[in-house]
Amino acid sequence: MAQRVQGTEDLYGSYMRAWQHMNDVAREVFGTYGFNMIETPAIEQVATFVHGIGESTDVVRKEMFRVFSGALVESLLAKGSESGLKPKQRLALRPEGTAGVVRAAVQNNFVPQGGAPVKLWYAGPMFRGERPQKGRLRQFHQVGVEWLGASDPAADAECIIMLMTFFERLGFNPESLRLVINSMGDAACRPAYREKVRSFILDHKDQMCDDCLERAELNPLRAFDCKNDHCREVMKDAPLAPNNLCEECASHYAQVKRYLDEAGVRYVEDPTLVRGLDYYTRTVFEVEVEGAGVGAIGGGGRYDGLMELEGGKPTPGLGFAVGFERIALALQAQGKELGGDDPSCVYVACTPDVRPSVFGAALALRKAGVRTETDSQGRSLKSQFKQADKLGARLCVVLGTDEVAAGMATLRDMATHEQVQVPLADLAQAVIERLA
Ligand code: HAM
Repeated sequence: MAQRVQGTEDLYGSYMRAWQHMNDVAREVFGTYGFNMIETPAIEQVATFVHGIGESTDVVRKEMFRVFSGALVESLLAKGSESGLKPKQRLALRPEGTAGVVRAAVQNNFVPQGGAPVKLWYAGPMFRGERPQKGRLRQFHQVGVEWLGASDPAADAECIIMLMTFFERLGFNPESLRLVINSMGDAACRPAYREKVRSFILDHKDQMCDDCLERAELNPLRAFDCKNDHCREVMKDAPLAPNNLCEECASHYAQVKRYLDEAGVRYVEDPTLVRGLDYYTRTVFEVEVEGAGVGAIGGGGRYDGLMELEGGKPTPGLGFAVGFERIALALQAQGKELGGDDPSCVYVACTPDVRPSVFGAALALRKAGVRTETDSQGRSLKSQFKQADKLGARLCVVLGTDEVAAGMATLRDMATHEQVQVPLADLAQAVIERLA
């Protein structure tokens, strides 16, 4: 039997409805903030991710799924190296949505110089070659937003408020949500801060793991996120980002917090929050659910340099993404179900001799917008009723020899077992009235 790839899931039944519900809530909540939907390809040139996410990040170095056509694989195997490949042959499945959306914004000139900001949201599968575990998949689903062209700190606050509203609309108990924020500085102040952290790690190199020593050179700020408890203990004394901000970044961060206070949003400042993607500048944030044990259910921040890194004009930007699978797990831990019950339907049952009449009756009901089921296996009337029950039908339309001859149908309420006769010609109308 063919097997599903490890770390991937099939979405069907109530799990599929949960994903669709999350999309509906996103459309509603983000729509009130003026966001429109975008869909970019799941496959992009590797360069798009390397420029944006950063060459030294785990996501790009270790977790990106590379994609080669069959013909290319043969030629690569023959050559033993991919060094001669053109950029258009170096492809990867997207590990996240931001880089692709920003690439699309540059390529299609969404934000012309001096033009109005553009607000986009997306939903779809993302791919990371991580070790699968609870809430950590190789193919997972994100809903995200990107707001390009806005530098105002009010935009950072609005984005965060929109995220928290989204979580509440999905059914999270607001008290259980832990919003963590930080500011990581910008091109003016971050290089000096990064250097300070690098020196700190090297000054404590006897106490740090090999990964952190490598990080000191590649990406020192990631040492704050080391999985090794001892490294994290040492990093508690490292220089902290908020104490090393330039005046503009400090003022921007202070205004973001003032807006959040004004809106009554509860947050915790964590000066060690660094996020795993290199494009962030200034505000970063993550949301966790207390007691859920699935890690962050969403995160994001500002990325004022990303449009330039993707080949565009200098344009500020910010956004966030949430993980569907983690949200579903965290809601389950709170005893809540995102997907809801099977949609109810109307079942048209018949005695075998009048089977052809079912066709027209079902057609009329479906035309009127009623979810309608019929038997397609030649079952007996009794087992058609059983099937109707199983499908959660609220009403059963019963067609028998005498009824059909008289141009009538019996409507049976599946909960009360009450039955009425209605003219077949008025079937749709009668069904709709009873369903209402
Ligand atoms: P991220 O923090 O890497 O940010 O991912 C966002 C969310 O996706 C996480 O909080 C988590 O819920 C979910 N997620 C990430 N990796 C996995 C995984 N392997 N399995 C299951 N769920 C996962 C970004 O992706 C940024 N693009 C967010 C952003 C948008 N920043 C600015 N704009």
